[in-house]
Amino acid sequence: MFRECLVLTIFLAGYRIFSVGEIPTSERNDFLDAHNTLRGTISAGKFVANGKQMPAAKTPIANMTWDCDIEKSAQKVSDTCIFVHSKNRTNLGENICTMWSSYKITFNGMAKKAYNSWSVEFQKFGWVDIKLTPAVFSSGIGHATQMAWARSTKLGCGRSLCQNEQKVLIACQYRDAGNFINSNVYDPK
Ligand SMILES: *[C@@H]1O[C@H](CO)[C@@H](O)[C@H](O)[C@H]1NC(C)=O
Ligand SMILES: *[C@@H]1O[C@H](CO)[C@@H](O)[C@H](O)[C@H]1NC(C)=O
Repeated sequence: MFRECLVLTIFLAGYRIFSVGEIPTSERNDFLDAHNTLRGTISAGKFVANGKQMPAAKTPIANMTWDCDIEKSAQKVSDTCIFVHSKNRTNLGENICTMWSSYKITFNGMAKKAYNSWSVEFQKFGWVDIKLTPAVFSSGIGHATQMAWARSTKLGCGRSLCQNEQKVLIACQYRDAGNFINSNVYDPK
């Protein structure tokens, strides 16, 4: 089901396959699991956004799968170490997140932290309408709705340590892009 990002390198003696993905499999799975748990909960009608029970989906919200090209693209964004959305995206949604500390940090647990910083928007601001009206979008839930967006089924994330390893920048990108104004995040039952 899950495929590594692989390259094939030819050595004199034969073939050797190894992973060149910046992100270890366990971290990729952390990103995927977090997104897919959210999607599955919403799909089943079990998601409660700041006290409001959201309706189940008409058709199951598909799980996201990892996409190595998107991972590379997202890694380029995190490598900039600048907390600004990339401007050169075609049919690619994007969530970014930065965290910093007074001591050196590692990527340990960062996927979950990024995910939490985005998904908490549903609890902080509520989710008044499945339709992403301009008002809903500007209520501040755009990262959360991108994660939940039913038609975004490919995911790739990159992360970089910046500023003497005291800051981390995480970028996740999504295809198809989500957050179309006046479209449904998902179709309710
Ligand atoms: C998503 O993945 C989970 C865990 O593997 C699985 O239980 C669920 O049925 C999947 N959802 C869909 C819509 O395929
Ligand atoms: C998109 O922008 C990033 C920086 O944000 C850059 O590293 C990358 O090469 C650009 N990609 C394309 C296809 O232009």
